[in-house]
Amino acid sequence: MDILKAIRKRRSARGYLDKTIPEQVLGRVLEAARLAPTAANKQPFKLVLVTDKRTKSKLVEVSKNQRFIAEAPIVIVGCAFPEESYQNIGGTHTSEEIDISIVFDHLMLQAAEEGLGTCWIGAFDEQQVKAILNISSNVRVVGLTPLGYPSEKEFKPGKHLNRKPLREIVLYEKYKETT
Ligand SMILES: Cc1cc2nc3c(=O)[nH]c(=O)nc-3n(C[C@H](O)[C@H](O)[C@H](O)COP(=O)(O)O)c2cc1C
Repeated sequence: MDILKAIRKRRSARGYLDKTIPEQVLGRVLEAARLAPTAANKQPFKLVLVTDKRTKSKLVEVSKNQRFIAEAPIVIVGCAFPEESYQNIGGTHTSEEIDISIVFDHLMLQAAEEGLGTCWIGAFDEQQVKAILNISSNVRVVGLTPLGYPSEKEFKPGKHLNRKPLREIVLYEKYKETT
């Protein structure tokens, strides 16, 4: 088991090959999503898998025209249920956005392990995505991701691991402002 290897391998893929994902591979990616933890194990989410070309094109249009999304054989739309989620995160928040974010992360790491690419898509119009997919008003669309074999287009090796050093993000014992 080498989780860090998959974490280092994952990156946002913004170009995809026209190549089918074998059923068993897709099954493992979805199994990773299914096993994600959610607050109080409420599992307040569903994943819509879109493969239809016309529907994918419509999703592109309402996602700032990010064309690479439709290149992938599957677009996964993360739907979350505020009413079914845990209601008291930190005394103020419902859990559905956190829950489905963890689901997406599980899915994306297993995808990386399988040699597949993904890319969190947050730049989309929620109401329009809901209209395209017949999603009811009490459901939130939190994120989308294409899923497919990545082409190397627009990929600069190493750049995706450009992160703040630990000393800038980890504090010990008490919070303090750092420069
Ligand atoms: C919540 C969220 C929303 C994002 N939305 C988009 C998006 O709409 N389009 C896009 O190309 N990348 C999007 N990204 C990808 C980030 O730009 C990317 O994860 C970040 O630059 C780090 O690069 P890496 O994923 O290759 O490690 C999003 C990422 C997150 C976590």
